[in-house]
Amino acid sequence: MKQEIGIRLLGTGSCVPSQVVTNADMEGIVETSDEWIRTRTGIEQRHIADGETNLALTKTAAERAMAMAGIDPKEIGVVICATMTGETMVPSLACLLQRECGLSEHVFAFDMSAACTGFLYALHTARALLCAVPEKKYALVTGSELLSRITDFSDRNTCVLFGDGAGAAVLELDENTAYYFDGGAKGDDQVLYCPRNYTLPNPFSHADAEPKQQKVSMEGRAVYTFAVQALTGSILRTAEQAGGLPDKYICHQANARIIQTAAKQLKEPMEKFFMNIEHCGNTSAASIPIALDECVRSGGIQRGETVMLSGFGGGLAYGTAFFTF
Ligand code: ACO
Repeated sequence: MKQEIGIRLLGTGSCVPSQVVTNADMEGIVETSDEWIRTRTGIEQRHIADGETNLALTKTAAERAMAMAGIDPKEIGVVICATMTGETMVPSLACLLQRECGLSEHVFAFDMSAACTGFLYALHTARALLCAVPEKKYALVTGSELLSRITDFSDRNTCVLFGDGAGAAVLELDENTAYYFDGGAKGDDQVLYCPRNYTLPNPFSHADAEPKQQKVSMEGRAVYTFAVQALTGSILRTAEQAGGLPDKYICHQANARIIQTAAKQLKEPMEKFFMNIEHCGNTSAASIPIALDECVRSGGIQRGETVMLSGFGGGLAYGTAFFTF
């Protein structure tokens, strides 16, 4: 099998909570302003769950993707859910999705935790599994977050940025097109951090178990600098493999200024970059598949065009995939 065998996205889907929280609503809970949020980030509103679960959003996004693909859910051979805010540590969101979506029991189902790069790592892994196990025909890859579960709504440095949502894609291998990937990680628990909250006492341990609040903290400027370097560098390395830049880009929606700065460094027009940050905010692993679905459904990308999906964020991790839509 050719090393760079392509992928074909057969269907995409997304689902966001119905509740819209505007910048004006944010002004009511922390000292901020619509003007500050808009000019620093490009965000105007975000969706925040009001009872919806990560599983419910992911299920709807997955069903929409499978409906667009026109395949029987039983034909899905691999399901990977990129998330860091799943319902439970066990079972995984992917196993719950197997049940909820009526997938075959012969499915490889597991979660992937790589924060905002999660969907890219999941897509790349799903493609590798389809290559390695030819009897698996289709993969379902989702990215979903309920960031409101780990957001400190008294911290204006972070709470104005995040939103909830889910996106999904169904893919198969395509021998007639090519695929290239660049990805990596640079372990760092200083600039972007969210602890796990293990509170059960261990009677056999003498170490102090200090309960930590499970909330995201971030040094915005340091992450911004990493993000611009990671995005531009990863796109250029992928373009080198592919022999050129793509027709369209769908990048992680963390801050409109990060994408604008990367576009300038790449000398690429902003029209090639699909953006939806104004109405979704930063939804971490969900951001790329939600933007991808909106782009596909609005005709923002046509069959035969080349696309780069590019993610960066917590980890610190990054990844870029190049393929033909
Ligand atoms: N409203 C008003 N003022 C604010 C707010 C707010 N919501 N938040 C911070 N400020 C203040 C700061 O306190 C600071 O005030 P000071 O100068 O008096 O100290 C001032 O605004 C400037 O703060 P900066 O952090 O320098 O602002 P910056 O222009 O860098 O924008 C931002 C901050 C939007 C967070 C930006 O740094 C950013 O986008 N960083 C990258 C975030 C990212 O990409 N995250 C991805 C991963 S997220 C994940 O993995 C879940």
